[in-house]
Amino acid sequence: MSPAEHLAFLKSRRSRRYYSNADVPLRVVERILEAGSQAPSGANSQPWQFVLIPRGPHRQAIQEMCAVADLHFHETAPKWLKDWLKHHNVSTEKIYFDKAAWLLAVFSQRDLPYWLPSVWLCIANIINQIEAEDLHTVVYTPTLGKPFCELLGVDTSWSCQALLPIGVADPDEHMQPRPRIPAREKTLIFDDEGIATWEEFEAEA
Ligand SMILES: Cc1cc2nc3c(=O)[nH]c(=O)nc-3n(C[C@H](O)[C@H](O)[C@H](O)COP(=O)(O)O)c2cc1C
Repeated sequence: MSPAEHLAFLKSRRSRRYYSNADVPLRVVERILEAGSQAPSGANSQPWQFVLIPRGPHRQAIQEMCAVADLHFHETAPKWLKDWLKHHNVSTEKIYFDKAAWLLAVFSQRDLPYWLPSVWLCIANIINQIEAEDLHTVVYTPTLGKPFCELLGVDTSWSCQALLPIGVADPDEHMQPRPRIPAREKTLIFDDEGIATWEEFEAEA
C-alpha cells in the first residue's frame, strides 16, 4: 500500500452504529487483536486485556448495564459538559451492538505507568484493522466499573476502556457526514522566526 493509499484508507474509515446478522470468523478477530497488540506502549508494558463476547443472552445484560451507566453519566454531568454534549448532538441514544458478530471489551491495567495513552494506541490499531478487514465498529466508552468486570467474571482490577462491536454494518444505516478539519489548520510551525501558521510559513519560504 502506498503512503497515499494508506491515507485514503484512513479517510475512508467510518464509525457504524447498526449491524447485520452476518458472522465474522474468529480467525479474523484474532488478526484484529494481533493488530492491537502491535501498538507501541510505555516500556513495552502492553497494558491491555481483551474480552470477546459472542452473540447471546449476555449482550442484553451488557446493553442494560450500558444504558444505566449512560443515563447516570448524562444526569450527573456538570453544566459545561451537558452544554458541550448538547452542542455536539451527543445523546443517550444507544449503540445497537446486539446484532454485531462480536463485542470486544478492551480492558487496561491501570496500575502500570503510561497505561492510558498505550491502551488507546492499541484501540486505534484495532479500529483500523477492523476497517482493513472490511468490517465495522464504533468506539463506545460507557463508565462501567467493577460490576461489569463481575458480570464477565474478570479480575476487578481491570478497567474497561472501550466496548467495540465488530461486525458487518447494516447497509441501510443513514450516515451523517463527519468532515475533518485539514491538518494544516491544526498546525503551527515553529522555526527561528518563532511561531507561524502553515500559510505564513509557506508564504515566507
Ligand atoms: C473516545 C471516543 C468515544 C466515542 N463515543 C461514542 C459514543 O458514545 N457514541 C457514538 O455513537 N459514537 C462514539 N464515538 C464515535 C465518534 O462519534 C466518531 O468517531 C466521530 O463522530 C467521527 O466519525 P467517524 O468515526 O465516522 O469518522 C466515540 C469515539 C471516540 C474516539
